[in-house]
Amino acid sequence: MTYIEEYRASIDDPQGFWAAKAQELDWYKPASKVLTQDDQGIHHWFADAELNTCHLALDYHVDNGRADQLALIYDSPVTDQQQRFTYRELRDAVARCAGMLRNHGVMKGDRVVIYLPMIPEALISMLACARLGAIHSVVFGGFAPLELAVRLDDATPKVLLTASCGIEVKRVIEYKPIVDSAIELAQHKPDTCIVLQRPQAKAEMNSERDVDWAQAVSEAPAVDCVPVKGSDPLYILYTSGTTGKPKGVVRDNGGHAVAMKYSMSAIYDMQPGEVFWAASDVGWVVGHSYIVYAPLIHGCTTILYEGKPIMTPDAGAFWRVIAEHRVKALFTAPTAFRAIKKEDPDAALASQYDISCLQTIFAAGERLDPPTYEWLSDSFKVPVLDHWWQTETGWAIAANMHGLEPMPVKSGSSTVPVPGFDVQILDEAGQQIGGNEQGFIAIKLPLPPSCLTSIWGDSERFRINYLETYPGYLYTGDGGYFDDDGYLFIMGRVDDVINVAGHRLSTGEMEEIVGKHEMVAECAVIGRRDELKGQLPMGFIVLKNSTGANPEQVIEEVIAMVRQDIGAVAAFKEALVVQRLPKTRSGKILRKTLRAIVDGDDYVLPSTIEDPAALDEIGALL
Ligand code: COA
Ligand code: AMP
Repeated sequence: MTYIEEYRASIDDPQGFWAAKAQELDWYKPASKVLTQDDQGIHHWFADAELNTCHLALDYHVDNGRADQLALIYDSPVTDQQQRFTYRELRDAVARCAGMLRNHGVMKGDRVVIYLPMIPEALISMLACARLGAIHSVVFGGFAPLELAVRLDDATPKVLLTASCGIEVKRVIEYKPIVDSAIELAQHKPDTCIVLQRPQAKAEMNSERDVDWAQAVSEAPAVDCVPVKGSDPLYILYTSGTTGKPKGVVRDNGGHAVAMKYSMSAIYDMQPGEVFWAASDVGWVVGHSYIVYAPLIHGCTTILYEGKPIMTPDAGAFWRVIAEHRVKALFTAPTAFRAIKKEDPDAALASQYDISCLQTIFAAGERLDPPTYEWLSDSFKVPVLDHWWQTETGWAIAANMHGLEPMPVKSGSSTVPVPGFDVQILDEAGQQIGGNEQGFIAIKLPLPPSCLTSIWGDSERFRINYLETYPGYLYTGDGGYFDDDGYLFIMGRVDDVINVAGHRLSTGEMEEIVGKHEMVAECAVIGRRDELKGQLPMGFIVLKNSTGANPEQVIEEVIAMVRQDIGAVAAFKEALVVQRLPKTRSGKILRKTLRAIVDGDDYVLPSTIEDPAALDEIGALL
């Protein structure tokens, strides 16, 4: 089938299309109806089917000829360690981990928060939750106690899983004090906190809640998969919105499994048995989908890499992993490649390794900028494919469908909508707009399988944030356009979300934190362009005029506050004290204009501006 035939089939007859794709999976019981709507009008795929995602990812392969094939390779340059698991070994480890959770009261539908570094136990415990029908919520290790506390209160887990430390290049980051402080801050206290002791740091077990992982797992029985419904949640993954409260994206079991399986062949052109590497973190959606679930459901070998693109030990790290484990497809964020290119502009380190196995490079998380695209294609002579993603969808919305019909690449474009995604460009009033015209990107309902079915505990927020702006569509928060050939160009967020080194962050949340400083009258945080990380947050602060505050000191303090509340990953390191913020006459801060000035872009002075001198002041300070 050509791309266009496949795409048309998915839009003209979504139910028939996805029913056919679902046949690739080993359901306990197929759905009686492929697509249903609940009483709130929300669509669900395969709602009354019965399955278990861990069965699809592990047991099915053990029982069908892959028991001795490698399922997982853990490669950790930061600890100088590697570990390999066959499908049988991984299934056994997961079954015991599930037994450990069961011993601590975890049942189907219970939540488990996972705050772990990139070690096998992260993937094992996610799959163990899936095995029990429990709902995991993984929290990225770079988040501070308060962020973890907010997630504990929202997800109300029975058990929290953690380790004694993570390792950032050479820096050992103790996790247990972060976890203790998060539990202290949270209203909801998990019953049990299971701690994996790593040799690099010893966690203090200082409460009756704490349990030693190694001992608990050694006492645990192996447990079997628990059947769940297609519409039962598999996980909650928190992502930044425009306010301080992160949104718990809820992903179901049935639709997710179908989309994961389909994407591995249609987008990534992977065959079972081949090696796939998503160099991301299990704390992000890319890690959930393409380190853990999709490669395993498809019977591939996945790589869990505890290291960085550079410094562990050098900018040849990725090429070493590819050569050593015979990786066929690499998927990472453009920022990782920019970091490598900066250190090794001629890609000389790559020539030290035999990377002839590498057939494709996929990029997502932010736009693949043309210079990075060109550097990659020139250096590695393999297709370099950008694809557009969101935590909300769990897989690519637009891509070059490499396994279906590879298309010519247009630098700067994520190519075409993935089958199932009816992507449209709308104007402010919700009218479709023509080719080459930039607008708001929306996806016509019904969404394809795997997309969010709610915000955890807040279906109203789901409706307001995503479904109300344009009735009949999902509002994506991204802007962009189609060119005359139907190629989609993503031009960035149209809200207060920024993308820092492939990490999605909320400037609104940063503003809330900065605004809490006793000497700050008001503030604005924007994302300014950065050559390495894509964007970096930058603050503009107006001080209360009665205080006689020392501006340098306030800047230092607000930077520390953001790091303290969100975590190092926020990378908020730059702020300016100004006399006033540029605003419209109705009091709206002109963030877009502010961004243009900081980035040195052309801009038209908004006719609604209250005081143009505010812009002159900022221009002079930069
Ligand atoms: N645990 C604790 N701290 C973490 C962390 C984690 N898991 N991940 C990052 N941090 C810390 C870093 O140590 C750094 O702290 P610092 O300010 O004290 O130096 C801060 O958070 C910012 O980290 P990062 O954004 O990773 O920047 P960096 O300068 O350390 O590294 C890159 C730059 C480009 C090498 C790195 O960002 C990278 O590998 N990016 C790829 C991102 C990616 O894979 N995204 C997934 C989407 S597909
Ligand atoms: P996340 O939910 O963390 O995956 O971040 C999603 C956001 O990252 C999107 O809304 C986009 O703004 C941005 N993004 C992801 N992939 C791309 C891409 N290939 N091109 C442009 N922007 C992207």
